[in-house]
Amino acid sequence: MQVFHHIGSLRAELGKARRAGKRIGFVPTMGNLHDAHLALVKQAQNSCDIVVASIFVNRLQFGLNEDWDKYPRTLPADTAKLEAVGCNFLFCPEEREMYPNGMDEQTRVVVPTMTDVLCGASRPGHFEGVTTVVTKLFNIVQPDEAVFGVKDFQQLAVIRRMVEDLCMPVEITAGEIYREEDGLALSSRNSFITDDERPRVAELNRTLNWIGGVIREGRRDFLVLQEEGAKRIDQAGFKLDYLEICNSRTLKPAAVDDTEITILGAMYTDGARLIDNISLTVV
Ligand code: PAJ
Repeated sequence: MQVFHHIGSLRAELGKARRAGKRIGFVPTMGNLHDAHLALVKQAQNSCDIVVASIFVNRLQFGLNEDWDKYPRTLPADTAKLEAVGCNFLFCPEEREMYPNGMDEQTRVVVPTMTDVLCGASRPGHFEGVTTVVTKLFNIVQPDEAVFGVKDFQQLAVIRRMVEDLCMPVEITAGEIYREEDGLALSSRNSFITDDERPRVAELNRTLNWIGGVIREGRRDFLVLQEEGAKRIDQAGFKLDYLEICNSRTLKPAAVDDTEITILGAMYTDGARLIDNISLTVV
């Protein structure tokens, strides 16, 4: 695997690959890689000739009181993991490479409305940071295809919308959610979960599945279901951020006759904020 810290050298190598007719796949990450990230790389390998992964802890998408400074940075271990799965290129720039004009850089990519709800409501500016850095990364890598995990359902929806609205020549594909045995979705932030909390955190996933199950059985009193779900999270000892039953495409509250439904939740543990979602088709 070739490792690049600079845009210029990465572009030069990718240019050669592109001119040789290679299809380029891209997996953007913030590092601290786990099996879900590696599965995205493998997924990209199935449909591309060259796979580029990036590792960049993007300050612009973290709020002032969030965990940018304590986000786990494990570059040597990450590099070894990517190497082991046969990733071709790793791009791991310093902050000044991505933000040469510093954090007061002027240009932003914004996808309004869709980013006012769910995670966007409790993390103002977060998605603006994501869409801006992903646009920069797309401009650097110019991939034919980029793979994003369904775990960050809203992020995936926002990026799909951005690519569509701005006619970006990249195909977005989705990687399924990777989970621990008890249902907890893999996340770099899981390392902040305490031993005492660990047996209880899967309640988020259990609650989503419970709601999904009763919707499949015919319940459509979504607001009541959200309240009942919130109680379960409270009883497990966690502070709920949101629990919402949405239309999978628009991310607006689901209507009783919607057939594509996604149930999304976020909750706070002592040291982390965890998110999860499940999607269902109801007829
Ligand atoms: P990060 O949180 O490192 O996630 C990188 C990719 O891995 C994202 O597409 C995310 O959805 C996916 N992912 C993480 N955990 C997953 C799981 N348990 N199952 C499936 N996919 C999972 O998301 C980001 O970084 C950043 O916002 C980024 C897009 C890189 C922009 O900075």
